[in-house]
Amino acid sequence: MKLIRNSLAAIFVLASPGLVLVSAPAAAADAAACKLEITGNDQMQYDKKELSVPASCKEVTLTLHHAGQLPAAAMGHNWVLVVTPDLTAVANAGMGAGLASDYIPAGDKRVLAHTKVVGGGQTTSVTFSTAGLKAGGDYSYLCTFPGHNALMRGKFKFG
Ligand code: CO
Repeated sequence: MKLIRNSLAAIFVLASPGLVLVSAPAAAADAAACKLEITGNDQMQYDKKELSVPASCKEVTLTLHHAGQLPAAAMGHNWVLVVTPDLTAVANAGMGAGLASDYIPAGDKRVLAHTKVVGGGQTTSVTFSTAGLKAGGDYSYLCTFPGHNALMRGKFKFG
């Protein structure tokens, strides 16, 4: 009986550090998976056609780099998250909002998240909650600078 009890204790001791070792790197990986980066350029392009985060991300941080040299007034880029069917309507509404409003229509609920507009050499980021997103939903991102969304768009996968 004593032998069995010692064996169980030994198993417990061996198993416990194992659980800690397994869970710590997993948590670190999740945090990294919730951070996204995308780069725009002077050719009116993003460098990625798709971004994805696991549904376990409660918050997502998106960092937008502008690798070009043209100023925001000529070749500005932002990053705007929408449900895919709203993409064209949000692009059109954004056009009318103007650069001072980052080409984002004020109070537009179709805009799920967005960065400000940046010009060449600049970087910006936005952190947003995923509470309103549905895992497996059909989301897209775009640049709402006038005329850019035809080229500057991609799919955002959540979950
Ligand atoms: Co743009």
